Amino acid sequence: MAAIFCVLALSSLATAKIASNTSRPLLAADIILGQPLEGFVSFSIEFSSFPDFAGNRSNPNKFSNNLLNNLGYLTGTKPYIRVGGNTQDFAIYNPNLTIALNGTVNATRSPDYPTTIEIGPSYFESYLTWPNVKFTHGFNMGGNHDNRQWDTLLQTAAIACKTLGRDRLHWWEYGNEPDLFSISSQGPVRPSNYNESDYVAEWLAGTRAIKGVIAESCPDMLSNETYGYLAPSFAGVANALNAARTWAEGLDEDGTVRYFSTHNYISGATSPGVTLQGTLMNHTRTRASVEAHVSEFAEISAVAGQGLRQIMGETNSLYNQGKPGLSNSFGAALWGIDFNLYCASVGIGRVHMHMGTNYRYASWQPITTGLTVAGTKAPYYGNIAVAAFLGNLRIEPVQIAHLDLAASEPNATDADVGVRDSAYAAYVDNMLTRIMVINMRAYNYTLNGTGDLDTPNPVPRKTRTYTFGVEGFQDGREVVVRRLYANGSDAITGITWDGLSYNYELDLGKPVRLRNVTTGEKVEVKDGAVEVAVPDSQAVVLDFDTI
Ligand SMILES: *[C@@H]1O[C@H](CO)[C@@H](O)[C@H](O)[C@H]1NC(C)=O
Ligand SMILES: *[C@@H]1O[C@H](CO)[C@@H](O)[C@H](O)[C@H]1NC(C)=O
Ligand SMILES: *[C@@H]1O[C@H](CO)[C@@H](O)[C@H](O)[C@H]1NC(C)=O
Ligand SMILES: *[C@@H]1O[C@H](CO)[C@@H](O)[C@H](O)[C@H]1NC(C)=O
Ligand SMILES: *[C@@H]1O[C@H](CO)[C@@H](O)[C@H](O)[C@H]1NC(C)=O
Ligand SMILES: *[C@@H]1O[C@H](CO)[C@@H](O)[C@H](O)[C@H]1NC(C)=O
Ligand SMILES: *[C@@H]1O[C@H](CO)[C@@H](O)[C@H](O)[C@H]1NC(C)=O
Ligand SMILES: *[C@@H]1O[C@H](CO)[C@@H](O)[C@H](O)[C@H]1NC(C)=O
Ligand SMILES: *[C@@H]1O[C@H](CO)[C@@H](O)[C@H](O)[C@H]1NC(C)=O
Ligand SMILES: *[C@@H]1O[C@H](CO)[C@@H](O)[C@H](O)[C@H]1NC(C)=O
Ligand SMILES: *[C@@H]1O[C@H](CO)[C@@H](O)[C@H](O)[C@H]1NC(C)=O
Ligand SMILES: *[C@@H]1O[C@H](CO)[C@@H](O)[C@H](O)[C@H]1NC(C)=O
Repeated sequence: MAAIFCVLALSSLATAKIASNTSRPLLAADIILGQPLEGFVSFSIEFSSFPDFAGNRSNPNKFSNNLLNNLGYLTGTKPYIRVGGNTQDFAIYNPNLTIALNGTVNATRSPDYPTTIEIGPSYFESYLTWPNVKFTHGFNMGGNHDNRQWDTLLQTAAIACKTLGRDRLHWWEYGNEPDLFSISSQGPVRPSNYNESDYVAEWLAGTRAIKGVIAESCPDMLSNETYGYLAPSFAGVANALNAARTWAEGLDEDGTVRYFSTHNYISGATSPGVTLQGTLMNHTRTRASVEAHVSEFAEISAVAGQGLRQIMGETNSLYNQGKPGLSNSFGAALWGIDFNLYCASVGIGRVHMHMGTNYRYASWQPITTGLTVAGTKAPYYGNIAVAAFLGNLRIEPVQIAHLDLAASEPNATDADVGVRDSAYAAYVDNMLTRIMVINMRAYNYTLNGTGDLDTPNPVPRKTRTYTFGVEGFQDGREVVVRRLYANGSDAITGITWDGLSYNYELDLGKPVRLRNVTTGEKVEVKDGAVEVAVPDSQAVVLDFDTI
């Protein structure tokens, strides 16, 4: 079939059929289709936590590797791992250190990660434990007021290039969030007048020094295919430095910036008024947060040209490592799907979800600590759903459209339509292949979301019916339905994707089919439309491709 399928997204609250015939086809000319890069579902791992996540040669972290494999099987590429974050700019190399990393926590600066760090040669062993994974190594630019900063750069460039080699290196990074260097709440590392020219001069000097070391230590890693950077890795769109101005000042004068990498958090863990429903399970807010990056990138493209792609090099729900009860909940997994797919729909090529040991928003906890047991966390299930929706991006690259539910139902009496739900369509060769529906109306399975199983929520869970016009498909055509399921948005365990659990305690993160969850569900195209019922706090994929 060569027809182009028009998707009409009509969300309706009751179990009615198509709400009206007046809704516009959503694949009209004004619909933007974003094309995700292969490896769209990727991660960023806090520099100081990398040995916990990956292990070392004698003790590889197999659990982490299993979780990465699950995503690789779905999308055709194991996630790209960026090793970086605040602690990359604290890490000082000590060639005599016999352990991988010596971190000292100063709770005033951060209770969650060390702010004084030495790494030794064995730190780099962690790059050797996961087969078929490509990495970005983040070099220390901030320096943490340590006079060994420059030596660290030269020494780690040699050891990193030798360890990673061409097969394991994706791209380098020099400096994390330099737009905060002069204003960091953890203590500034540059003067208050540090500007784009200063940053660019420093970045060029540092990257040229790295290149000089590579020329000596790893001369086979200097071609345009093997040498390059993610940059500028700013924390946001409105801090002390302006990204477009760094281009104007010559950031890419050497032609080495491979992706425009930016960071995003929806809000902060301790920011006033943050709630699951209002801050995360809120499509309006997610859109606004991403659209700020779309605007910024338009300015950069005007200087850099159209060839450059934007990626989210570090992102997650709430900065300061997430808020307990929010960032680790099933509701945050639903937010993660909406965030990732909205990014995909506006052309952001790849999204690296950030995590570290004991971080509340982490997709998984790699080892058991005094604070958190090893385990697959709720956000990981959101990663899986995104990967399943995108499919194998190597074999069947997709284009993603955001289906504007609010626009398709302009007269909806329920103000939550298109705010507490969202939908996306995936096209392969212009043919509708899958639809994702995310119903983000919070539903607590325990009374008031306390997590206390002795007080279940007495209010029954509501179900909404979503109807999509799928012109071009014949009536009777079967569509496979896969669900991301949990008892409620407050759930932090008991989550399944299409009946599969990826939990640590079952098979170390490999998929295990649970018998108590229904799978194999199908719906049929009827009167040119397909209809699916979605309980509050659930995500569903309709798959037109698997019959
Ligand atoms: C919607 O369109 C179909 C086919 O064009 C038509 O049969 C049906 O009567 C229309 N329904 C409404 C409510 O206008
Ligand atoms: C490492 O140890 C050697 C031998 O003890 C010593 O000479 C050298 O100064 C040490 N280097 C550093 C960076 O501490
Ligand atoms: C490898 O990891 C294990 C477990 O964390 C640790 O005991 C061992 O010291 C590490 N080896 C090196 C060379 O750091
Ligand atoms: C780790 O660093 C602390 C100071 O931050 C120091 O007291 C301790 O000796 C170091 N440990 C090792 C093994 O170097
Ligand atoms: C911890 O950090 C604070 C704030 O930067 C600083 O004032 C204090 O001296 C540090 N404490 C130690 C033990 O280094
Ligand atoms: C940065 O500040 C210096 C003076 O310290 C000035 O010469 C330069 O033009 C400034 N650059 C930008 C981009 O404002
Ligand atoms: C490598 O990239 C640079 C900058 O974009 C360009 O000038 C150069 O021609 C490229 N080299 C090759 C061999 O393609
Ligand atoms: C959703 O976010 C928008 C934008 O931040 C805000 O105006 C609105 O009040 C939020 N909705 C809810 C239900 O909190
Ligand atoms: C929405 O309501 C307005 C005003 O009542 C009406 O003109 C319009 O046709 C309606 N649109 C739809 C899609 O029903
Ligand atoms: C739930 O919240 C209501 C209203 O705030 C309160 O009256 C009730 O005691 C709470 N119940 C539990 C079990 O926390
Ligand atoms: C659901 O639980 C959260 C805490 O997880 C609580 O803040 C919220 O008020 C609860 N909602 C309802 C409707 O009880
Ligand atoms: C299925 O069983 C698992 C493991 O026993 C449990 O965590 C989950 O809540 C159950 N799911 C349903 C839908 O009952």
